[in-house]
Amino acid sequence: MPDTILLTLQVNGARRTVETHPMARLLDVLREGLRLTGTKEGCGEGECGACTVLLNGRVVNSCLIPALQAQDAVVVTVEGLAGGEALSPIQDAFLTHNAAQCGFCTPGMLMAADDLLRRCPNPDREQVREGLAGNLCRCTGYSKILDAVQAVARQGEGK
Ligand code: FES
Ligand code: FES
Repeated sequence: MPDTILLTLQVNGARRTVETHPMARLLDVLREGLRLTGTKEGCGEGECGACTVLLNGRVVNSCLIPALQAQDAVVVTVEGLAGGEALSPIQDAFLTHNAAQCGFCTPGMLMAADDLLRRCPNPDREQVREGLAGNLCRCTGYSKILDAVQAVARQGEGK
C-alpha cells in the first residue's frame, strides 16, 4: 500500500485535490488536508454527529467514511452553508434563537437541520427531533435548536 494517495473531490463547490493517507477518513481529509476545521471530531465512532457533512447529497458522519469513498464525490461542509458573508437561513435562525451552543456540536446540528429542512420543509416538533436524533449534546437542552429549525420552516426558507 502506498504511503499517500491523491484524492480529488468537489468540496463546497470547488474541485480540490489533496494528498492523504490511504486509510484516512473523510473527516481527516477535510480538517487536516483541506483545513476545513468547521467539521468537528467528537466521538470518532459515529455516535455524536459532530462530524456531519453531506456526501453526494446525503448526510453522513465523516468520521466513519473512508477517504477513498469520497473520490470524485461532492461534499458540503458547514463552511459551505453560508453564501459568502451571508448566513444561510438556518445559521441565521440559530443565532436569533440562541441555539448556537458549543463549537463542537453546532456545526453538525446545522448540517443535519439544513438537510432536514430540504427533505421536509415544514417539519413538526417530533420530525425535527427525529431529524436531529443523530446529533448529541449532553450539556444543555434542545428546545432552542428545535425553535430555530421550526422558525426557518415557518418562513418557508427551508426549501
Ligand atoms: S465524531 Fe463522528 S459521529 Fe462523533
Ligand atoms: S456538545 Fe456542544 S453544547 Fe453540548
